[in-house]
Amino acid sequence: MALIRLAYASEATFKALPLEKGVEPHVAQILMTSRKNNPRKGLVGGLYYEDNRFFQYLEGEKQALYQLYDKIEGDDRHKNVKILIDEPLDERSFVNWSMKHMLTTEDFVGFLREHNLDEFDPHAFDRSTCESMIELIRESSHVDKPVS
Ligand SMILES: Cc1cc2nc3c(=O)[nH]c(=O)nc-3n(C[C@H](O)[C@H](O)[C@H](O)COP(=O)(O)O)c2cc1C
Repeated sequence: MALIRLAYASEATFKALPLEKGVEPHVAQILMTSRKNNPRKGLVGGLYYEDNRFFQYLEGEKQALYQLYDKIEGDDRHKNVKILIDEPLDERSFVNWSMKHMLTTEDFVGFLREHNLDEFDPHAFDRSTCESMIELIRESSHVDKPVS
């Protein structure tokens, strides 16, 4: 079974609503769907949303992941979907996370500072910034709720 990892950046098309329990309601809906679907397909990963932009990282079996990516790419809740990483993977690293959602914290502000970034603009991420972002989400304990 061939595993792959994929990261992309996109821009939300919806107007952000006030947070509910710390999460933007459109994003909460996306997380609910992801957490329902991903475990059945053996997909894991993380999502970050800020300034109306998304960064999502996914790991899983190639066919299942590309099938999902096709759906995601056509989702009208976002646009300008740009793949940042798409490559083979040895083993899943987001164990126990069907879709981890990192909340904005000082850790994230530190990440921007460390990479000399004025704002969250994942479309402009180079390879190393991308890997740092994935690491940040993987290690983050600032999450809404753990779902396996
Ligand atoms: C930024 C973003 C990330 C998404 N991530 C996932 C995901 O990880 N898993 C998933 O099943 N759907 C995800 N979706 C939703 C899909 O585009 C699609 O609406 C959903 O898979 C359809 O599920 P359903 O057939 O159960 O209704 C995402 C959508 C957006 C806009």
